[in-house]
Amino acid sequence: MRADCLDLRRRGRSSRLLGLVPTMGALHAGHLSLVRACRQQCEITTVSIFVNPTQFGPNEDLALYPRTFEADCLMLEAEEVDLLFAPEVAEMYPGGKLRTSVEVGAIGGRLDGRSRPDHFRGVATVVAKLFGIVTPDVAFFGQKDAAQVAVLRAMVQDLNFATRIAVCPTQREVDGLALSSRNRYLDASERVDARALPAALRHVRAMAESGTTDAQTLRDALHEQLSTSPGVRLDYADVVNPETLEPLANTTGGALVAVAAWIGTTRLIDNIVLPPTVEMANI
Ligand code: PAJ
Repeated sequence: MRADCLDLRRRGRSSRLLGLVPTMGALHAGHLSLVRACRQQCEITTVSIFVNPTQFGPNEDLALYPRTFEADCLMLEAEEVDLLFAPEVAEMYPGGKLRTSVEVGAIGGRLDGRSRPDHFRGVATVVAKLFGIVTPDVAFFGQKDAAQVAVLRAMVQDLNFATRIAVCPTQREVDGLALSSRNRYLDASERVDARALPAALRHVRAMAESGTTDAQTLRDALHEQLSTSPGVRLDYADVVNPETLEPLANTTGGALVAVAAWIGTTRLIDNIVLPPTVEMANI
């Protein structure tokens, strides 16, 4: 008998699906879309709020990161969330440090991992801890953080976690800017400059739709668009395999088009996914 037939993990548990939406709080409609997906797919919805210090670099915005716990609780109550897990730093990191962590390998050094060393180790480790504490059947993440999704999918697969990862679409403002807790750092003119990110992605999507499949042509277009946009300092703009995050030569098999840029002192990220082209899709 195969071990998976026994479903050892669910022994002694009810058949009701337990869902988890991990967050760092400062909740917005993007987070709430994950909560709603969780409520639709699971009988029990858990949300965690924890501003995880180990995923911030030494010169990043940990101290500044918006903390709006009271408002978050009201939103989660209105969404009829069943459980909220909001631990203190000392509960998650007793003595300030862990003895072990999740090694994220090469995938953790790609896209954001290139300019934020140790970021994905911090993310993977805290998500592994949350999975261990909450033991969710399904955990919900946003496509907005596409590299995070790829790293966590790899972790779940490689380390045989019992949790399934569900990915929900990026929620945007009417002008296309992806919702983010960090958008509240932007002043009025930076908020206008920030439109350059979705605009560059829309431009590349249009190129892809009119037949461009050469990844370097799309990369060049992104660089051209973003390096000439006022108030934007490019971190990366790449066309990669959505699973491995490795750069692609062409987009015929589908592609993740991902950008990160500084608007003043605020670092924003965004992405779109290009579907496989028709010829590939028909194979
Ligand atoms: P945080 O930035 O709070 O995001 C929590 C979840 O909300 C992530 O899965 C993120 O992708 C999703 N999200 C954020 N903006 C979104 C948007 N505009 N549309 C859809 N989903 C969106 O990501 C983290 O926290 C942390 O790294 C965490 C996974 C909690 C680990 O600390």
